[in-house]
Amino acid sequence: MPEKYFIKTYGCQMNERDTEIMAGQLDELGYSPTPHDYDADLIIINTCAVRGSAEQHAFGYIGQLKQLKEQHPDLKLAVAGCMAQEPGTVAWIKRYAPHVDLVFGTHNLHQLPRLLDEAEEHQETLVDVWKTAGDVVEHLPSHRNDGVRAFVNIIYGCDKFCTYCIVPFTRGKERSRNITPIFEEVKALAQEGYQDITVLGQNVNSYGHDLDPQVDLADLLQTLERIDGVRWLRYTTSHPRDFSQRLIDTIAESKKITHHVHLPVQSGSSGILKRMNRKYTKEQYLDLIDRVKQAIDDVSLTTDIIVGFPGESEADFAETLDLVKTVRYDAAFTFIYSPREGTPAARWEGRDPVPNPVKKERLNRLMELQYQISWEANQKLLGLTEPVLIEGLSRKDPNVWAGRTQSNKVVLVNRDAREDLIDRFVAVRIETAKTFYLGGVQVGAPLSGPAPRRRVELPLL
Ligand code: 5AD
Ligand code: SF4
Repeated sequence: MPEKYFIKTYGCQMNERDTEIMAGQLDELGYSPTPHDYDADLIIINTCAVRGSAEQHAFGYIGQLKQLKEQHPDLKLAVAGCMAQEPGTVAWIKRYAPHVDLVFGTHNLHQLPRLLDEAEEHQETLVDVWKTAGDVVEHLPSHRNDGVRAFVNIIYGCDKFCTYCIVPFTRGKERSRNITPIFEEVKALAQEGYQDITVLGQNVNSYGHDLDPQVDLADLLQTLERIDGVRWLRYTTSHPRDFSQRLIDTIAESKKITHHVHLPVQSGSSGILKRMNRKYTKEQYLDLIDRVKQAIDDVSLTTDIIVGFPGESEADFAETLDLVKTVRYDAAFTFIYSPREGTPAARWEGRDPVPNPVKKERLNRLMELQYQISWEANQKLLGLTEPVLIEGLSRKDPNVWAGRTQSNKVVLVNRDAREDLIDRFVAVRIETAKTFYLGGVQVGAPLSGPAPRRRVELPLL
């Protein structure tokens, strides 16, 4: 019987992608995946440190696994990801979770086979966390999900040092991959039937500044859209400061880069933005949004917003509401500020915090406003016919397909039981529009053939 692994992933798409690379290495070692932790021989917890709530979930899960390990003493437990880069986590594991066998970080996950070997020899928890990142490592194996959506790293790390954010500490400085291996990876994915490609980085807009010769995200996207078989091309996540006019024009002219622009604003107050070290003002951000709206037809705009940053006054918050009313986002991811140890804002939180009830009340007001705007934006789609990528059956109703538009909006589609539409593109006429989803009927035959179910092998360059 091959040994079985289970990987629990918290956090962003970068973490999801790291999980695929860990899984690829385990496949090569002869392990096989299991969807359940209780029958695994190896459990890896791929953690996220961006907010306290994600950390609490991971700590809770690590604690729970003590019992499973008591029942199965041969079970191996490993903690990986952004939390592992934080000294506090390592100290916590040593003290409260000695049942963990291995802790490794974001910079050495490519060494998983060696780390597992070494942990085998170790009596206590083996901690192997690199403080800084090495060079970009290519040709790593990868276990991607079946289907037509795939994620491809283009830049690692972040140099922006927003004052609330832990990421530059856990993911290190920016390192871009060369264009050629990215091109080869996407080409291989397209040949295997992956048609919805998202290129990934903490700040994709600074892609290529560290390469020789220098290139940028617009160059990369223009190169990737030439690949046959790629239908939708996405990029995440963006920083407004580096979002160039050239990129806007490239998106506007492209037939494949989706007309969905995610531009995290974080706050509508220039004073708070300055203290966040975002390096743009409210006016500069609004000017960028204007240029995006002018150039890109029917653009769908989304954002990230933090409320309750230390020192945020009612007037600052009113400016955030005002900005949301002006931009009219299709959707917003809204967060209560969470102090992250070691960041400048965490020190200010000690001196000048926004009280918790005020943080919650601001979040509620913001969400209420955004929900109204999202509902109104969705009404405008009524009667239109949109291509939709079907992802599966609705969780609530097995008679309904659930999919997404190119702008990432969820669409429920009445099901004709004769045809399996999973991972296929279909034209859908939108007939209902709610705050969080659209509903519609399929028009004509699917726009794409059945999706292949084979796993991609990366070519060795
Ligand atoms: N507290 C709350 N939200 C945060 N984010 C990043 N750091 C924090 C923090 N300390 C949010 C930002 C970012 C998103 C991925 O997470 O809005 O864009
Ligand atoms: Fe964090 Fe700012 Fe970098 Fe985004 S750009 S990862 S918010 S430091």
